[in-house]
Amino acid sequence: MSSAAPDSTPRTVRELLARGREFLERKGIESARLEVELLVAHALGTDRLHVFLDLDRPVDAEEVRRARECIVRRGKREPSAYITGEREFYVRSFEVGPGVLIPRPDTELLVDVARERCSDAATPPNVLDLGTGSGCLAITLGLEIDGARVTATDLSAKALEFARRNAERLGAEVEFLEGNGLDPVRGRRFDLIVSNPPYIDPAVRDELAVDVRDFEPQEALFAPAGDADHWAHGLALAAAGEGRENGVLTPGGTLLVELGFDQAERLGPWLDTRGIAHRFHDDLGGTPRVLAIEAPARTSS
Ligand SMILES: C[S@@+](CC[C@H](N)C(=O)[O-])C[C@H]1O[C@@H](n2cnc3c(N)ncnc32)[C@H](O)[C@@H]1O
Repeated sequence: MSSAAPDSTPRTVRELLARGREFLERKGIESARLEVELLVAHALGTDRLHVFLDLDRPVDAEEVRRARECIVRRGKREPSAYITGEREFYVRSFEVGPGVLIPRPDTELLVDVARERCSDAATPPNVLDLGTGSGCLAITLGLEIDGARVTATDLSAKALEFARRNAERLGAEVEFLEGNGLDPVRGRRFDLIVSNPPYIDPAVRDELAVDVRDFEPQEALFAPAGDADHWAHGLALAAAGEGRENGVLTPGGTLLVELGFDQAERLGPWLDTRGIAHRFHDDLGGTPRVLAIEAPARTSS
């Protein structure tokens, strides 16, 4: 593993797991047990369940070398999803790697809210995912909402490479467009717009875990202009433009934006002052994490 790793070579899967766990714990990795199980499973070309079914199986020198390489990388704080090349989101596996944000379980709330909002739609929705990254939202919504037509944008060409591959692997039809903000869809309207935009204040950069700060793409993490609310403000104003001819939502359409844990307390008063009707959806811990803004339905006048 390294000079700090134990000398004797593990002989079985069980020993490999034990040594790896010990090593990661020494390196201060949280959830070392789970992480080592994922990494060993990856190195052995199997999954966690089969690792447990085969604990006493002898491991050969090549398997030990592969597992050690993965565990040492994790010891240097590289995210395990970049080492294994995948991360699960809404029960599907997404390919990830350097240059694309690793999908977070928090973002599954946005999918739940979107599905609920579309559940009684009369016609299949026209959906936009702004800042798609790995494509986790766009692809999941395309597969979970019957008949949805999905467009996804990102500024990062690298992220879009991952997103396109994920769509192909998972059998989702998504239109991917490269560009800044709403530029690639200028003049178009959507029944549902979802976005998990960069919302971390660059001022707290040094407080972030090294795994995130030093490995994940900066443009996916940090809000522009040092303003954590930059995207929530911009998208809310664009959504509220509906009814005045330049809106981005169709009448009755919905904007859903993922928020950082402390954004709702600032956004609520900001939206109220501007007369923008909104709702916040809470995560399981009771923290408002999704902002929802609905465009007025079409009136007959
Ligand atoms: C927080 S990540 C979200 C990725 C993915 N939707 C998810 O939930 O895992 C934000 C994404 O927005 C993209 N992005 C950042 N600035 C952008 C901009 N000005 N226009 C379009 N996309 C942008 C980043 O490249 C990144 O992929």
